[in-house]
Amino acid sequence: AYDYSLTPHSTIAPPVGPVLVCIMDGFGENEFKDEFNATHVANTPTLDALRAVPDRFRSIKAHGTAVGLPTDADMGNSEVGHNALGSGQVVDQGARLVDIALETGKMYEGAGWKLISEAFDANTVHFIGLLSDGGVHSRANQLVGCLRGAAERGAKRLRCHILTDGRDVPDGSSVRFVEELEAELASLREKGCDARIASGGGRMQITMDRYEADWSMVKRGWDAHVLGQAPHTFKDAKTAVITLRGSDDTAVSDQYIAPFVIVDEADVPVGTIEDGDAVVLFNFRADRMVEISKALEYESFSTFDRVRHPKGLRFVGMMQYDGDLKLPANFLVPPPEISHVSGEYMVKNGLTVFATSETQKFGHVTFFWNGNRSGYLDAKLEQYLEIPSDNIEFNHAPDMKAFEITAATKEALTSGKYKVVRANFANPDMVGHTGDLAATVRACETVDKCVKELLEVVDSLNGRWLLTSDHGNADDMVQRDKKGKPLHGEDGKPLPLTSHTLAPVPIFIGGRGLPDSVVFRADLPDAGLANVAATTFNLLGFESPAIYKPTLVTA
Ligand code: 3PG
Ligand code: CO
Repeated sequence: AYDYSLTPHSTIAPPVGPVLVCIMDGFGENEFKDEFNATHVANTPTLDALRAVPDRFRSIKAHGTAVGLPTDADMGNSEVGHNALGSGQVVDQGARLVDIALETGKMYEGAGWKLISEAFDANTVHFIGLLSDGGVHSRANQLVGCLRGAAERGAKRLRCHILTDGRDVPDGSSVRFVEELEAELASLREKGCDARIASGGGRMQITMDRYEADWSMVKRGWDAHVLGQAPHTFKDAKTAVITLRGSDDTAVSDQYIAPFVIVDEADVPVGTIEDGDAVVLFNFRADRMVEISKALEYESFSTFDRVRHPKGLRFVGMMQYDGDLKLPANFLVPPPEISHVSGEYMVKNGLTVFATSETQKFGHVTFFWNGNRSGYLDAKLEQYLEIPSDNIEFNHAPDMKAFEITAATKEALTSGKYKVVRANFANPDMVGHTGDLAATVRACETVDKCVKELLEVVDSLNGRWLLTSDHGNADDMVQRDKKGKPLHGEDGKPLPLTSHTLAPVPIFIGGRGLPDSVVFRADLPDAGLANVAATTFNLLGFESPAIYKPTLVTA
């Protein structure tokens, strides 16, 4: 069996009180310190004071190859960020694994591909997923690779069900992604494959709910993709997207486009999902694919009325999204294997753990943190608390559930029951994704207040704390040209940036219980999120596991 034993640290004694690990989701340390940097504009006295403490503040990489993404042009995201934070290791992530499977042709040799190929001759192969080049949940060129791969291998009929983005990519770009996909489908048709877009809608409107925040989204997606039912029908997807985005004063963002179905000349949907068809969910990332996977896969399912569950579906995910539930059973590319995560070391050494966030980030600080495992690693030693998120656009309530998370975290800290307390504040990320600068400034100010309260409690308990983030977002709220100059629309207004950024993230350590000698070392300028887990073990008074990226501190 794997040896999980931890060695006492040679110079850092264990703390009297608890160790708090706090994640400010989407709070980057951006080089652009101007009016579009919400973390900079925000009034954050707590973080300002922490930045001034010598050798206990630095920034670490949170994007690209430092977190297992294909290139350093890839922005970070919460899945890969929390995987790295929680596991102390860098593994090739889904985006990269799918690229490799397509490049090497391994995808076409696997059991998942074999299953869908049974539908090539007499049935339809459907592709459902996020249509953009954001690279967070999916990538359009991977969809194209799969479509070509299927057509070349004899698929007669292909249907795409597209979710418009505007969240990991600029709002409005969905029109271009639809055009590019249509061009690809036209060229497949020329080669004799009947390939079309069949349905769609905005990613925050249908199909891509996460952590069971709002199942009605998934039902709307089911109705459009499977049943061919939606409030709007169109003859082609480009017209659908342009029309549903609306004109200036009623404009709807790509994220929220209403569901639509493409119909033929006789107004019949062109691509409902029928018995014996194949379905590919082409997103590689798990969180927003789990619910639709359950609806497609499970024989017995009562969360919403499916009306019709196609029989003999040949259903695969781009990856297996949940290794514990084995969901879906069939997949095209095996998911990253993230083992020996920090939580396992903790529970195997008897350390008690508390973790909390609100719904939108709850799986991040548990499931992603634990290397994409659902449930407890050890229910006797761990307690996970989910604070229900509201189902609204978060710029209308930028405090989100930060104060409730703070209250729950304080209670866990003072209870004396937990050695490690982990909390994730969703605000800078979730509000940042709306593109609303003023609301995102407020989100950062709220988090600053909450952090202050938490650090005071840790101090009162003679504990230690580590404060960081998983990737940038709030730190840049405007689209820029290559030189960094803010871009403006035809109306003269700045073009909002809804996506994450490439910025590194801040990391702070401290606490009354932390010996003065413990400071950041100077010899790891390229350190990233994966160096945090080893650091946490040091704060707990242990040497870090040998397989982990090195600790950031020296004592
Ligand atoms: C989302 O799913 O909301 C975004 O695509 C990515 O955001 P996250 O990585 O911060 O969850
Ligand atoms: Co985000």
